[in-house]
Order: sequence, then structure tokens, then C-alpha cells
Amino acid sequence: MFNASSPFHEPGFGAWKQELEALPPSEVLIREAEQTVRDGCWMRWMQADCESTYIHSVEDNVSKIGKHLVLLAEIADYPVGFCCVLAGRTDSDPLFIQLVAVVPSARRRGVGLSLLSAAAGWQPQRNIAMATLDDNVAARRLNERFAKSIGGNLQRVLVSRFRPSDLGFAPGEHHRPWMINRQ
Ligand SMILES: CC(C)(COP(=O)(O)OP(=O)(O)OC[C@H]1O[C@@H](n2cnc3c(N)ncnc32)[C@H](O)[C@@H]1OP(=O)(O)O)[C@@H](O)C(=O)NCCC(=O)NCCS
Repeated sequence: MFNASSPFHEPGFGAWKQELEALPPSEVLIREAEQTVRDGCWMRWMQADCESTYIHSVEDNVSKIGKHLVLLAEIADYPVGFCCVLAGRTDSDPLFIQLVAVVPSARRRGVGLSLLSAAAGWQPQRNIAMATLDDNVAARRLNERFAKSIGGNLQRVLVSRFRPSDLGFAPGEHHRPWMINRQ
């Protein structure tokens, strides 16, 4: 049995990490995650490699893939990032970007932006909501850049406007919500 919070010694993890250190300059491809052990495991390993993300079991990740839109980013067939997206319950609700994460060795080459663009294209009629910690400069700059790229207007909204669970954080965490208005 593997420790749910410690994937570092799971078979294949070390080899994947080594491949990440020598990623070719290939294009990033985005695809929808499938409800398979393999994609659940890729998510788990990326969660382990990214700071500010919780590490979930493969089963939990597979279940998440079944309930939400999960996008995977790949470079040369290796997964390097993912994005979890939740559609609002009503027609006027936004699309909630619950998490976007890219492994450190693939950052600053447009992977985060590609994931958000693909998420935005999933339901183009909806505005987009997300939450960030104030001190997460990378996430805040990424969101600004993303809003600009889709011609949207990024604005802070009240913490009470959306449920924390829709935005992908737990009560007691200090994320602050934003909305990109694209109407
Ligand atoms: C935030 C994160 C997803 C960005 O991913 P990324 O693939 O590096 O982002 P991109 O390469 O698409 O960056 C697009 C733009 O965002 C901004 N940006 C991204 N990272 C930045 C950083 N560390 N500092 C300043 N600006 C940054 C830049 O404007 C960048 O464009 P540029 O490289 O042409 O200047 C990544 O740093 C990450 O996974 N962090 C840990 C998890 C996390 O905090 N997720 C967000 C909370 S949900």
C-alpha cells in the first residue's frame, strides 16, 4: 500500500521527474482527462510536484475527473500541468476555475495560459471566477494576462459572492475571489 500523501516512491514517479528535467521545446497539448487510473495517477504526481496543491489519492482524482472538467497539459506526451473547472449550477453562474497548476520545470512557457484558455473555451457564454491568495504573484499575474487575452475585465468580488467549495478552497483558507467579466 502507498501512503496517500507520499507518492515520491511510487513506481514511475522518479522516471517521470527525470523526463521533466529535459523537456524538449515542443508545443503544449491540452486534453480532457479521462476517468482512468492512469490520469488519476498523473494528477497525483503533478500535485506532488507543485507547491500550493494538496496531494490526493488516485481514487479521489478519478472521482474528481468524473464530476468536473479536468484538463491535462502535455509536452512530448508527458503531463506537465492540469486545471480543474466547475460549471455553475444556473445559467447566470460563472465557470469556476478551481485550480491551475504547472510543474516547476515547465513553467513560464505558456502552459498555465493554455490551460486557462482551453477552460474558457469549454463554456464561452459564462463569465469566469477564480480565487487566489494575495501573495501568489504568479497566479495573479497569470489571471491578469489571461483576462487580457480573452478581452475580459478582471475584477475583485466580495468573498461572500461564491461558495468556497465552488472556487476550490476550504473555509478558513484565505483565498480571495476574482471574476472575469466577458460580456
Ligand atoms: C501559477 C502557475 C499555474 C503559472 O503557470 P505557468 O505555466 O508558469 O504560466 P504561463 O507560462 O502560462 O504564464 C503566463 C503569464 O503569467 C504571468 N506569470 C506566470 N508566472 C509568473 C511568475 N512566477 N511571476 C510573474 N508573472 C508570472 C506572466 O505574465 C506570464 O507571461 P510571460 O511568461 O510571457 O511573462 C504556476 O506558477 C503554478 O503552478 N504555481 C503553483 C500552483 C498555483 O499557485 N496555482 C494557482 C492557484 S490556483
